[in-house]
Amino acid sequence: MTFKTIEIERHGRAALIRLNRPEALNALNSELIAELDSALSDFESDPEIGCVVLTGSEKAFAAGADIKEMRDKNFAEALLENFLGRWDTVARARKPIIAAVSGFALGGGCELAMMCDFILASESAQFGQPEIKLGVMPGAGGTQRLTRAVGKAKAMDLCLTGRMMDAQEAERAGLVARVLPAAELLPEAIKTSQRIAAMSAPAVLSVKEAVNRAFETSLAEGVRFERRAFHALFATHDQKEGMAAFIEKRPPQFQNR
Ligand code: HXC
Repeated sequence: MTFKTIEIERHGRAALIRLNRPEALNALNSELIAELDSALSDFESDPEIGCVVLTGSEKAFAAGADIKEMRDKNFAEALLENFLGRWDTVARARKPIIAAVSGFALGGGCELAMMCDFILASESAQFGQPEIKLGVMPGAGGTQRLTRAVGKAKAMDLCLTGRMMDAQEAERAGLVARVLPAAELLPEAIKTSQRIAAMSAPAVLSVKEAVNRAFETSLAEGVRFERRAFHALFATHDQKEGMAAFIEKRPPQFQNR
């Protein structure tokens, strides 16, 4: 399938989606979101793909929702067309998605990165929720995911002032998993994605589901959920294979079953 606003690559069992609207710093218009939804849905149902990397350009992961497309929208239109409804595909994906962020990740761009499972950032990355400067506020999870990631003080600071936070500050605050030199960002993201995709897929999906459960439930319920998911993995071929391989001092041959 060919796309206009994104590019797709396959690196073995890892897929790469590159946001590609350089003329608008990858501003997220409805066409781009529709293409992202479509590409991601394809990868979700493709058994050859185990993990996805979402990236932008060196200058911008994404500078936000497309302001030129949004400016004339009114309330009824936004409500009736379910504006932002299609953004949920990223957050709902069952396979892991790594955000590889260089340059600006602002507004909807920062929210998109936060919908991914973790963020690898280049030293040039800049994160922010500048919607307040446009007379609005975050609308794709910014006030919620940022607060869970960095805590109330920094989330309030960023959302109320619209200031940007650099990669080092974002890593210290817990928004970013790792900061890498610009040239290493994409190779490392792809390598990390391949490493995850080489694990047993039932274990990978279960880990993702269990970690995300931590945001939705009490500790006792979360721990109960985790234990049952752990028990369930003993029904897989890959549990027998993984443990046998360890004992026999050889690499495991997972079959995703
Ligand atoms: C539409 C955008 C855009 C955006 C940049 N561009 N951001 N177009 N929507 N969000 C366009 C510019 O208009 C310009 O087009 C071209 O990209 C290059 O941008 P410049 O501003 O010339 O680049 P620079 O001087 O380097 O400044 C970079 C920047 C600035 C600091 C990132 O572009 C900026 O502040 N952008 C807006 C950031 C923002 O407010 N994001 C939140 C959007 S609201 P032309 O045609 O002039 O060359 C949002 C709501 C989320 O995300 C709610 C739910 C999703």
